[in-house]
Amino acid sequence: MARTRIPLIAGNWKMNGLKADAIALAKAVAEGVKQGGWKDREVLVCPPATLVMAVADAVKGSGLLVGGEDCHAKASGAHTGDISAEMLKDAGATHVIVGHSERRTDHGEKDATVRAKAEAAWRAGLLPIVCIGETLAEREAGKTLAVLETQLKGSIPAGATAARLVVAYEPVWAIGTGKTPTTPEVAAAHAHIRKVLGGIVPDAAGVRLLYGGSVKGSNAVELLAAGDVDGALVGGAALKADEFLAIAKAV
Ligand code: PGA
Repeated sequence: MARTRIPLIAGNWKMNGLKADAIALAKAVAEGVKQGGWKDREVLVCPPATLVMAVADAVKGSGLLVGGEDCHAKASGAHTGDISAEMLKDAGATHVIVGHSERRTDHGEKDATVRAKAEAAWRAGLLPIVCIGETLAEREAGKTLAVLETQLKGSIPAGATAARLVVAYEPVWAIGTGKTPTTPEVAAAHAHIRKVLGGIVPDAAGVRLLYGGSVKGSNAVELLAAGDVDGALVGGAALKADEFLAIAKAV
């Protein structure tokens, strides 16, 4: 039987936040989560690595989850400047985003790297959020579904199950641009993702699929209602507590 898909609203803070403001933001979100008393959804914030521990400590007991934005594939070693999944776990994280398009673009990460990072997340006891998405050129060339399929097949490790995997569909051209696909376009992408997952994950019907790219309070209801959308990965709007909580409320 398919596992029930508990909606997940995840905030990706990217390279934003110094301690004082970040703690204030996290506490405000945690307060909203506490007041919401939600049993039917999960809310996660992913701060920059320097703030994971401080944020995790600040929101402890509130129900707000904390994750990392990226991790290295190895547990430790000579990798100057990198952070392992084990380190994130040690800092209080429960989740980690892997394969975000900014990592793929800025750091040349390929599907195989993303897959290794997802495996690292499992090794450390973290839940990976694997990101995929087409560029504008790929969409305009009618290649969206094919690109998503290739990325899924390359980025998801063997042994994935619904309990061990979250997938985020983020069209690259929708990230930080204020542009979003139409609801039918989102539904079509998600339906295709779930179909492809059917050949990779034994209980694909239970995998949570997040939509990401210019999600805000004002469009969250519509985007979250699209077929096969089980939550959102939120960038810019996650930096304002009210806006982010409005998205969480829209579930
Ligand atoms: P955005 O970013 O919400 O600012 O478009 C989303 C993301 O990159 O995860």
